[in-house]
Amino acid sequence: MKILVTGGLGFIGSHTVVELQNKGYDVIIVDDLSNATISVLDGIEKITGKRPEFVQLDIRDLAGVSKLFSNYNDILGVIHFAASKAVGESVERPLLYYDNNLVPLINLLKELDKKDNSHFIFSSSCTVYGQADVMPITEDAPVQQAMSPYGNTKQIGEEIITDVTRVSNISAILLRYFNPIGAHESTLIGELPNGVPQNLIPFITQTAIGLRKELSVFGDDYDTVDGTCIRDYIHVVDLAKAHVAALDRLIKGDNIEKVETFNIGTGKGSSVLEIINAFEKVSGVKLPYKVVARREGDITQAYAATDKVNEILGWKAELSLETALNSAWKWEQKVRK
Ligand code: UD1
Repeated sequence: MKILVTGGLGFIGSHTVVELQNKGYDVIIVDDLSNATISVLDGIEKITGKRPEFVQLDIRDLAGVSKLFSNYNDILGVIHFAASKAVGESVERPLLYYDNNLVPLINLLKELDKKDNSHFIFSSSCTVYGQADVMPITEDAPVQQAMSPYGNTKQIGEEIITDVTRVSNISAILLRYFNPIGAHESTLIGELPNGVPQNLIPFITQTAIGLRKELSVFGDDYDTVDGTCIRDYIHVVDLAKAHVAALDRLIKGDNIEKVETFNIGTGKGSSVLEIINAFEKVSGVKLPYKVVARREGDITQAYAATDKVNEILGWKAELSLETALNSAWKWEQKVRK
């Protein structure tokens, strides 16, 4: 069964391709290499013993997408990762984000709409909830006004999919990720941030290895256990497995609705200081950090209610925070060698 994975050389995409191949799916990766390197294919091949097919394509190009679907007329499902994800950049360059994150989605849905039966998995984000009033956050918590063009593209993307599936043969699952971290235990694939990392864990590992002077902790005056923000950090391998579970569900026709939404998190919140402590324990490295002002747009806390995804999708996060941090640290050391 052929599955098209857009952005399949990226951080979450590459880990998902590994899990798909491990489960016997045939994968075609489409990536424009704008934020990934071709050598990721070697890592995937070493882990799984199989090199996925690869097509270099910017999927904003509808003609290119049409050609792809006619070359591979047996595509059974699409997992769509290809997107831009830097919140700050999206504020500076909104049109780039609306173009990169919505045009490819529309192009893919146009092609899938021509098929009798097709399946679509969308990378969404817990960012759609904004600062939810109630913790843990359930899937029926209200979607709040987006705080950035990036966040808005995820909300609009969800709405486009919902509208299209209503009148087509496409069934879809929206996965709202909490904070993906870590790397494959083989250290053959992992996260490769461009420039100065905006996310906490790559900034920590780059500081620990000496690439950055110190970590800035963005605020310690939040209303939380220790004043720092709380997030739900999930191992990328667990997250990757959620995509396989979602795809299996759609292919078997077990879905109850044309569009289903699941939170993908561990259900456990950790503060920034707890993350620093846990990282120091697993790595044995003392992390230089200082507390600075809050980062604009940050919410106080977000962690997932996981009952729905546990019961309905039959998926549960299995790997611990320590395992995730250890894998991120091993990956950083490997990359810098
Ligand atoms: C961020 C985005 C979110 C996006 C996700 C993608 C913002 C406000 N949110 O989530 O929309 O879906 O990335 O990966 O940008 N922190 C520090 N120092 C740092 C970096 C982070 O203290 O150098 C803190 C942050 O304040 C936050 C936590 O660490 O409390 C996690 O930050 P980050 O990894 O950027 O994730 P989010 O902000 O949750």
